[in-house]
Amino acid sequence: MHKRLSKTHLFNLSSLILLCTVRMYCSSPLNKQAQFTRETKTSSVLFLTNSQRKLYTMSANPSFGSDELGISKGTILGDHHMVEAFLGEGSFGVVTRCRDTKNNKTVAVKVNKSDPEILLQAKLEIFILEQLRRLDPDRCNIVEWNGYFLDGERICLNFELLDQSLSDYIGDRNNRGLPMREIRPILNQLANALFHLGSVGIVHADLKPVNIMVVNRSESQVRVKLIDFGIACNTSAVIPGDCVGTIGYCAPEIMLGTPYDEAIDMWSLGLVAVELATGVPLYPGEDDYDVLKFIIETQGQLPDHLLESGLRGPENGQTLFVRLIKEMLALDANQRITPSEALKHPFFNPGLSRRTPSPM
Ligand SMILES: *[C@@H]1O[C@H](CO)[C@@H](O)[C@H](O)[C@H]1NC(C)=O
Ligand SMILES: *[C@@H]1O[C@H](CO)[C@@H](O)[C@H](O)[C@H]1NC(C)=O
Ligand SMILES: *[C@@H]1O[C@H](CO)[C@@H](O)[C@H](O)[C@H]1NC(C)=O
Ligand SMILES: *[C@@H]1O[C@H](CO)[C@@H](O)[C@H](O)[C@H]1NC(C)=O
Repeated sequence: MHKRLSKTHLFNLSSLILLCTVRMYCSSPLNKQAQFTRETKTSSVLFLTNSQRKLYTMSANPSFGSDELGISKGTILGDHHMVEAFLGEGSFGVVTRCRDTKNNKTVAVKVNKSDPEILLQAKLEIFILEQLRRLDPDRCNIVEWNGYFLDGERICLNFELLDQSLSDYIGDRNNRGLPMREIRPILNQLANALFHLGSVGIVHADLKPVNIMVVNRSESQVRVKLIDFGIACNTSAVIPGDCVGTIGYCAPEIMLGTPYDEAIDMWSLGLVAVELATGVPLYPGEDDYDVLKFIIETQGQLPDHLLESGLRGPENGQTLFVRLIKEMLALDANQRITPSEALKHPFFNPGLSRRTPSPM
């Protein structure tokens, strides 16, 4: 099912960040290069974008197995959690919005699906969530977990209610990508989350926009939190060759079946960074190989020297952003930037946001 990449298919890094760069140049009216890029690249960019969008919307519409689970609006889970809505679906089960009738607060309750492996899965997730309790969820940009309860045979994980996923947040902007002033804090918070996960020795292993939640979209300063630790594991307990994560967000070392560690999360974050800027996933397909091949076929390889020359000049938000992505997407896990290095990256320099021209 999961076609593995061979080494020869790991293309020039320039190709990976091409979309991102093209998108930046196109949206920066001040940049002379933009004219050139727009004229020469638009058709293939649109082509790629539309086909990505199609795949994207196809997968963005979860169907709820609520009949199968015997849960509907009004169902009481445990003693006092009344189901108000369905929020999403994952491998573990469904996520419902519930009102705690004891205190009238709304929470997100993740309820298990029927699956022979579910008890083991639930135990593993609870094990990880217990370890994460050492971290302050607000300071570490991680979802707050309030324990679990049982409803008959059902296992219910009780989380704080968050607003919307980052993929919906991007979708609300018609998948046009976010301005740099929003990208910067989001990436900074996610790097912070990875830094803290690293400090307790946990690999998330499934970082992607649907597993990142915007806390409250009405707040003027966007805040995000990492959710779904369903396949997270101890850094010390990773099994090389284990097929973890979501196709399209997996680091090359996973696809190649070589040993991996928390650096896989940074790879995924690099792809999230591209997606924030372009508005569409870089590899939305069912098969990494075909999508990568498609990018190369439609765009061609952008030689490094061209990319570099396009980015020369005083350091600004764009060049630093591309530099950060390159460091996050280092093919060699040993060369990949760590969360603490990322947090010190000049891209996050507070002075920068004032100097960069809008909208970037
Ligand atoms: C609970 O909160 C909702 C809105 O958040 C409100 O409409 C309702 O009246 C409240 N119920 C009680 C019993 O306080
Ligand atoms: C999970 O949910 C299903 C149906 O909702 C239930 O029948 C099953 O026993 C639950 N628990 C476990 C541990 O599988
Ligand atoms: C979200 O933020 C807005 C604006 O700050 C605030 O009015 C609202 O109460 C917040 N919503 C929640 C659920 O906290
Ligand atoms: C994971 O790490 C924690 C503490 O860091 C440790 O207590 C636990 O035994 C580890 N579990 C595995 C499966 O390695």
